[in-house]
Amino acid sequence: MLLWVLTTEETLDIAAFQGRDIISIKDFKREELKFLFDLTSRIKSEASSDYPTYRTSLSRKTVGLLFREPSTRTVGSFTQATINLGGMTNGIPNPDTSSFKKGESLVDAAKIIAGQGMCALVMRDMMEGGARLVAEHLDIPVINGGTGSEEHPTQAILDLYTIVEKRGSLDDLTVGIIGDLKNGRTVPSLSYALSLFDNAKIHYIAPEIFQVREEVITEVKNRGVDVSKEYDPRDVITHLDVLYVTRIQEERIKDARDLEDYRKIKDTFVVNANLVKEGKRELGIMHPLPRVDELSYDVDGLPNAWYFDQANNGVFARMAILYAIAGNKSK
Ligand code: NCD
Repeated sequence: MLLWVLTTEETLDIAAFQGRDIISIKDFKREELKFLFDLTSRIKSEASSDYPTYRTSLSRKTVGLLFREPSTRTVGSFTQATINLGGMTNGIPNPDTSSFKKGESLVDAAKIIAGQGMCALVMRDMMEGGARLVAEHLDIPVINGGTGSEEHPTQAILDLYTIVEKRGSLDDLTVGIIGDLKNGRTVPSLSYALSLFDNAKIHYIAPEIFQVREEVITEVKNRGVDVSKEYDPRDVITHLDVLYVTRIQEERIKDARDLEDYRKIKDTFVVNANLVKEGKRELGIMHPLPRVDELSYDVDGLPNAWYFDQANNGVFARMAILYAIAGNKSK
């Protein structure tokens, strides 16, 4: 179990997180992320003994859920994280069974759930800026579980934690991000998070129609990251420490012709065992999941497949987040 060693200037008090919103990964400093990774690692080390240090920290507390888009991992891992900390969840984990069907607004629904007595609200929305909007109206911490194509900050936290756990360091990292970089929200959050570490290099690998948005490129370049756009993973595979695969976000694609065009060239962008074997021996393959057909099942048996460990780390990272912002730290 790897624990970060915080240097003196990086020493941070957990009280700094109390009551804090998690809206964008851009709101985080490097030492704050390191602090959360360290906490995640401590929590994970207690998993087999049912978290003696943490298991009552959300006791008698309820975490609100407000999901207007489908979710498996985010809603499930926040729920399990809450249970592991001794709390409960309530609210709207699934938009189909809520008054959104009757046309209720996001802010009204958020106020109602918060008013039922939550210690924090975890939300997911199709609207960019939705989490910030809700946070402006509530006096409990709001955690962004994904907003449109904008951001998914807690995914970036668990992604980077996984890299630390597998590789030991986030410095001098060369990452390829492949797939639908235009519409996927994990891509900007991961990029901004990587930019906090030394000598990050990101290769964005996608056909032009799905290439990363200019605003993301500008932001990461301004933060000192060396970036390139690539059109074939074979051109960079030997340089990568991590290849982060994302699915085509069909539900967000407005022009059906983009999908038709993509289908003609799609094979170039499929990550399979043959491609992985062209990379470094220790290359890590990551994916926020769900996968569709961009990541072959023949990768699953390779030691390079990190994505199920990555998903499992979601519970521990979200325990750390909930504990830091809403947990009772009397122990
Ligand atoms: C991602 C999301 O919702 O953005 N899923 C997740 O939370 N692990 C990725 C995706 O849906 O493609």
